[in-house]
Amino acid sequence: RRYTVAVIPGDGIGKEVVPEGIRVLERAGQLHGFTLDQQWHDFASCDYYLQHGVMMPPDWKARIGAPDAIFFGAVGWPETVPDHVSLWGSLIQWRREYDQYVNLRPARLMPGVPSPLAGRGPGSIDMWIVRENTEGEYSSIGGRMFAGTEREIVIQETVMTRHGVDRVLRYAFDLARSREAKHLTSATKSNGISITMPFWDERVETMAGDYPDVRVDKYHIDILTAQFVMNPDRFDVVVASNLFGDILSDLGPACTGTIGVAPSANINPERTSPSLFEPVHGSAPDIAGRGIANPVGQIWSGAMMLDHVGEHEAAASILRAIETVLAEPRLRTPDLKGTASTVDCGKAIAQALG
Ligand code: NAI
Ligand code: MG
Repeated sequence: RRYTVAVIPGDGIGKEVVPEGIRVLERAGQLHGFTLDQQWHDFASCDYYLQHGVMMPPDWKARIGAPDAIFFGAVGWPETVPDHVSLWGSLIQWRREYDQYVNLRPARLMPGVPSPLAGRGPGSIDMWIVRENTEGEYSSIGGRMFAGTEREIVIQETVMTRHGVDRVLRYAFDLARSREAKHLTSATKSNGISITMPFWDERVETMAGDYPDVRVDKYHIDILTAQFVMNPDRFDVVVASNLFGDILSDLGPACTGTIGVAPSANINPERTSPSLFEPVHGSAPDIAGRGIANPVGQIWSGAMMLDHVGEHEAAASILRAIETVLAEPRLRTPDLKGTASTVDCGKAIAQALG
């Protein structure tokens, strides 16, 4: 089996952790009988911007082509390029152009990663957050009138389409159905946001009819954030609109310790265009170039990529290898109070695969 992967390291520690992700993916391929045809790209980085005046070449879509997936590091170097330029010139364009309407993030407590929540140990938090990634509160419809005067008015609309809501709900219901707990939680705020959120709730109820085996509940977003902190073990799959999902998908991984281990995916489930796999963290300019970044978020994102292309056994074996290595204090990077370098940690995970 062969898969084509566009590899885009980006900036800062992206350039340090992506090679470790590739190291582990290649080892998994040797053991499980598949090959990755890699196409590395230097665009979508601030270095590229400084040379060319744009984050990506105008023909970036043709250059990326039609790979099975995109494996991305992180973008951003605020010292030289403002963050809105680097982000809108890369990630946000991909999400839209490739219609990656599902943003998926696991939040799982791993060995060796102390949870900031009292009394929580490995296994006690294990959930998936499914965020709508293309519409909702993040529309650009709105405007500003009478700017700078006492009469100033600012409006930004929320856009929910039946197509857009249903497709992300369908993905979340299918994911819940595939899990042992078969439990789906929907984030809402229909008591305060009286037009769009009742619509969201209505679509959840309608779709629940197709999934009698999935237990469904809903929480208002305010109490849901509190429950994430107080009772994270209550949750299995959590589905949310763009804004609520943005908040929950940072809070979930935060409840499980360091940002350095958290992975994420931007998915086009129909596979009409490539999906993108990247760690949650950014380019970390404060530690870049020192070889101490934690590569686990990148490596775990690689496991999610293998799940996406259908290599489920290899993906599961990478997760087991991550757990084995994190359980060993000397193999952890400094963010987890260890002394291992990025490369040491990546090599240890590749070795733990077998
Ligand atoms: P950041 O995630 O880069 O760093 C936040 C803190 O976490 C820093 O102290 C950093 O050292 C630490 N950290 C992050 N990843 C780590 C790892 N793998 N191992 C050990 N420690 C790690 O977020 P920040 O500082 O807000 O943003 C820096 C740049 O990254 C900005 O230009 C921002 O726009 C960009 N960014 C890009 C993202 C992406 O490409 N998806 C996501 C978030 C930020
Ligand atoms: Mg965010």
